[in-house]
Amino acid sequence: MSHNRREFLALAAKVSALALSAPLAEGLTGLLPAATAKVRPSGVYGLLRPTGPITLTARSVTQLVPATGAAMLAYQAEQGGKTFHNPVLVLDSGQEFRARMVNALSGPHAAPTIIHWHGLDGDWRQAGHPSYAVPPGAHYDYAFTVTNRAGTYWYHPHPHGFTARQSYLGLASLFLVRDAEERALAKELDLELGVTDLPVTLQDKRLSAAGEFLYAPTADDLVMGYLGDEVLANGARRPVIEASSRIYRLRLHNGCTARIFNLTLQSGGRMLPFMLIANDGGLLESAQELTAAFLAPGERVEILVDLRGVEPGQSVALANAGFDPMHREHAGHSPAPDPHAGHGKAPDPHAGHGAASAPARAPLEEGAAYPILSLKVVRRERYERKVPSRLSTLPTPSGPLEPGPARRFELAFDRANGRWTIAGLTFDMDAAPVVVDRRTPQAWELIGAPDGMPHPMHLHGYFFRVLSRRGSPEQVARRAVDGKGRTALDLGLKDTVLVWPGETVAIAPDFGRPDYPGEQLFLLHCHNLEHEDQGMMLNVRVK
Ligand code: C2O
Ligand code: CU
Ligand code: CU
Repeated sequence: MSHNRREFLALAAKVSALALSAPLAEGLTGLLPAATAKVRPSGVYGLLRPTGPITLTARSVTQLVPATGAAMLAYQAEQGGKTFHNPVLVLDSGQEFRARMVNALSGPHAAPTIIHWHGLDGDWRQAGHPSYAVPPGAHYDYAFTVTNRAGTYWYHPHPHGFTARQSYLGLASLFLVRDAEERALAKELDLELGVTDLPVTLQDKRLSAAGEFLYAPTADDLVMGYLGDEVLANGARRPVIEASSRIYRLRLHNGCTARIFNLTLQSGGRMLPFMLIANDGGLLESAQELTAAFLAPGERVEILVDLRGVEPGQSVALANAGFDPMHREHAGHSPAPDPHAGHGKAPDPHAGHGAASAPARAPLEEGAAYPILSLKVVRRERYERKVPSRLSTLPTPSGPLEPGPARRFELAFDRANGRWTIAGLTFDMDAAPVVVDRRTPQAWELIGAPDGMPHPMHLHGYFFRVLSRRGSPEQVARRAVDGKGRTALDLGLKDTVLVWPGETVAIAPDFGRPDYPGEQLFLLHCHNLEHEDQGMMLNVRVK
């Protein structure tokens, strides 16, 4: 075993031992509300229900990283005399949303920025198109009515070329919408946001010696995606949530720049089934029982975890299960990496501050098995609720369901330029290579090159349905729930869909809903944020 590897294992052991020790666990559970805790009133990832216009100031904040207490970038907001950082915004469908984003990024972080409300309906001027990025010292005002159905949406920066770095260094959080269907389900299952209904942002990070998030991608990382060496949940290391023997709802959000998860629930070495109730676009029509779910950057899933059969003292872990991350681009690209090093390359000494002092730890392999957080049952509760057989009614598409011939988007690596492309193109701020008429139903085929890697493809402004998956790798094909090769995660409304190498995913975006006034300019891009910043993104003009 190499020296580094040994050190890494020793550190990992220390980290997990610490995570289980009482005083620290208490500190950590404060970040993910424990079952007994009241809704976090303020602080980092606290719930913020806007009662009027809010200001979100993008800035560096000291002592904020929950795992280490180091500085990070965050959106700071004030309401009712309380200060929030990266607030989880909670709004009702139909509510007016007014926000001013202030760019207070300074020093090494000074750069243009703009907020994108991922998954939220809004005219393109409200959606954070990169052409609206504002320089340090400037601000951007948003005002729109929340017209989405209930769901777990999110917000993050979208300035072209800086999206990955700013999101990674901390600027990202959730935007929850509630409506009547949502309230009915919460009542039926006796779920309370922040107590038994827990929003969880998952992000992998590399930490500098000082405990700060370290973003220093090498040229290879820009091609494959930048992987961290540990996974944090709401910024905390393997938090332990104290729970009672009842049903919990987890709203799981992949906020990583590149890492794909294969999420499972495990207890005492066994896999526990769970219920998938919602994805990107809100509640499914009915709950789907699963034992594993792939979750790619940008995607959200909401699951119900049933702890009724778990004895007090026992825990259920949310854990990544081993899978093949399918980095087939190695085939012709640069020399084959050392199989024991994950994507690790020697840190680039010019990569920026912190790099030189960073401990040389190997990135946590994407396909490895590792725990993320756990629910520890500490008390029994009488709980006799049943998951309703019908959760929601999906909106009917604005046009016919059977669209005409599909438009093809190949996702392939351009070896000459060292960039990932969509239909042979990379981003040009001034070009709109995709033009659609909002009255014409669309079918798009997203085609993963066989010698590529997985790409989570995201469309701004509109939701789509997944029509089919063809040529899926075995690890995906065996999860199909219908004859069209779709998995449970493809049901309902999606804004981001994972396309594996060799796979063709057919989607039907609904450009008729919402019916925004006038011509619109949105984006189609890969939500591997290194890929996006490198230009795996196209403007979409909607007429
Ligand atoms: Cu969440 Cu254009 O991205
Ligand atoms: Cu988006
Ligand atoms: Cu990609």
